[in-house]
Formats: sequence, C-alpha cells, structure tokens
Amino acid sequence: MGNCWFRGISYVNRVSSTAKSETPKIQSPSERDRSDESRLPSNAREVEAMRLDSAARNPLTAFSFEELRKVTNGFRQDSLIGGGGFGRVYKGAVGTGEPLQVAVKVHDGDNSFQGHREWLAEVIFLGHLSHPNLVKLVGYCCEDDHRVLVYEYMPLGSVESHLFSRVMAPLPWATRMKIALGAARGLAFLHEAEKPVIYRDFKTSNILLDYEFNSKLSDFGLAKDGPVGDMSHVSTRIMGTYGYAAPEYIMTGHLTAMSDVYSYGVVLLELVTGRKSLDKSRPVREQTLTDWALPMLTHKKKVLAIVDPRIGFDDYPVRSVQKAAMLAYHCLNRNPKARPLMRDIVASLEPLQQPPLLPDDHTPSGS
Ligand SMILES: Nc1ncnc2c1ncn2[C@@H]1O[C@H](COP(=O)(O)OP(=O)(O)O)[C@@H](O)[C@H]1O
Ligand SMILES: [Mg+2]
Repeated sequence: MGNCWFRGISYVNRVSSTAKSETPKIQSPSERDRSDESRLPSNAREVEAMRLDSAARNPLTAFSFEELRKVTNGFRQDSLIGGGGFGRVYKGAVGTGEPLQVAVKVHDGDNSFQGHREWLAEVIFLGHLSHPNLVKLVGYCCEDDHRVLVYEYMPLGSVESHLFSRVMAPLPWATRMKIALGAARGLAFLHEAEKPVIYRDFKTSNILLDYEFNSKLSDFGLAKDGPVGDMSHVSTRIMGTYGYAAPEYIMTGHLTAMSDVYSYGVVLLELVTGRKSLDKSRPVREQTLTDWALPMLTHKKKVLAIVDPRIGFDDYPVRSVQKAAMLAYHCLNRNPKARPLMRDIVASLEPLQQPPLLPDDHTPSGS
C-alpha cells in the first residue's frame, strides 16, 4: 500500500493510448501539481478519512484489486465495454445474493499525478452527490498503484455510441429530447447544489443511458467546485475536449457554470443533427459543427435542413425542432452572460417531451 503512481514521477495531462475518441483533449501544464501532491490520499484508509472530512453522504465500498479482478473475469477482453482518456471499462457483477451489475473503470497506471487527481475527483464528487441523472458510484479501489472506480452499470452505454453508430437504429426525435432533458437536469442539479459544481467535460461519451433512455452524467474526472462568494469564476488549467469547450474558457482559463452551458449547446446540436462536434472527414466548412450550424439555427425553414437525415421528415414535430435549435443557439452565445441557466433550459425542454410532462415529473418513464 501507499506506493502511489503520482509520487515523484512524471506529470502527464489527460491523454491515453487507449483513447478511442478522435476528439482531441485540451491540456495545459499545471504549476500547482507539485504543491498539491502531498495533500492527496494514497490508500483506502486515507480516502475514507478525506471523505468524512468533506461531509460525504454516499456509502462507498473500498474494493481490493483482487476482488475486482474476479468480478471482471480477470479483466478479460470479452468483459470490456469501453475505453476513454483514462483507461478501460469492464462489465462485472458484485455482491452476494442478487448480484449488482457494475462497470469497473481501471485507470491506466500511466504514473501520472494528473491521473490520480482525476480519479480522486470522481471519488469526491460522485461520493457525495446523488441525483437520478448522475451515475451512481458504488465503490473504488486505491491499492498500491491501482486506481479503479466501480459504477452502477448503464446497460445502453453512452449517447455517443447510439448517436454516431452506423449499426444501431437511429435515435427517434422523442428519445433525443428525453436524453437532452435528463442531461440538462443533471447539469442543473450540479450548478444549483449547495456547493455548486462545474462539470467541465460535458459531451456525448460522458452521458450514459439506462434501459429507458434516461440519461446520467458520468466521468467526473474534470469536475470542479464552482466560484464562491463574490468570485465570478474559478481560474483553472484549461482542460476539456475540443469541439465542446467554451471559447472564453479556452482563451482565459476562467471557468464558470456558463462554460458547461456552452458544451450543453454543442451536445444539443449533436442530438439535433446527428453530426459530431468535430468531424475531420467532412468538407472543411462543415468540420466544426457549431460554425456550420449556427447560421441556420434561427431560421424556421432552413433549420429543418440540418436535422439528422436518419430521422424522416414525418417523424419529428417541426415546432419541437425549431425550439431545440433556438435553445442551442442561445447556449452557444459567445457572451457567457447571455447564455441561459441550466434550470431555464430544463424548463424549455419539458414541453418538448412526448407525451408532455408535468413540470415536476422527474421520472417520465416511471422508473
Ligand atoms: N457505468 C457505466 N456503464 C456502462 N458503460 C460505461 C460506464 N462507465 C463508462 N462506460 C463506458 O466507458 C466509456 C468511457 O468511460 P468514462 O467514464 O467516460 O472514462 P474516461 O475517463 O476514460 O473518458 C464510456 O463512454 C462508456 O461507453
Ligand atoms: Mg469520458
């Protein structure tokens, strides 16, 4: 125990050889890494002590690496369900009696301080936040060099895998609006929590789905406490994903909840158009989704031409498309202060649900 892979070793930002997404990550070096290092816990006992200090609410199980090896059949290839910036994700089942299906995210062990910090951010944020639109953290492993997170299993995987798949059936319009609403509720909850949280890496691969297409935000590695008191922003290293990050954040490193709102606008556009935020395989003028779509969003007729062609014209309510497009337009305002609050976005999306929801109905499918 205690032989952590962030101690006195190289400082690497968020990139991985296992990254499957083509979307490039934004990274910038941190001067504060070294001074932060000594404060980070390096074993399960220290993690639990820190969680108690931070008024943690959710009970988490501290797994041994051996237990997790067993529940994933030795991290076998056929248990693999995902890979991203920080490692591989395996399916497994834990507990005696009725086993609970889980997703086990094993960090690469690339010896980076950054890796440990992102792992810890997930333990801290998901360890005390709880909401129907946030993925549930079941436990973790912090043993020697191993850093693992164990989440509830989300059977339909990520929104990215549905939206951009060539093999899966196209998502119907109503499902897209349901996904948009669930994710908006998740972000609104974070922004209005007792201690507000900025999510910072909002994108389709970080929105996961249950059997009824309820969305849950996952991957809190880049989440940050929001500004407190009369501070207008938090200053951070610039991290996130190109194509989703707000322009003012990329330019200044000043992070506000409005940076999440911009990313939300990009995801909403992806849901409307079925196009990726950045797509190098398209003609140059169409490669950046926001640049291509923005001029059309406020035109009632032209906007219909950017709807995902896999949804038939008869299969979406024109009014709903126009409203969703207008909402995306406001989220993408270059002036962060002119963007809507997530709670207002939730209110705008509720009437677009089919069948319409009552304002305080948080479980449209009854789950
Ligand atoms: N709880 C889960 N249930 C099902 N699939 C998951 C779960 N967590 C992650 N995945 C899959 O693994 C991918 C990467 O997970 P993520 O937490 O975003 O890791 P990274 O930090 O590497 O981006 C997701 O896009 C998804 O496909
Ligand atoms: Mg991710």
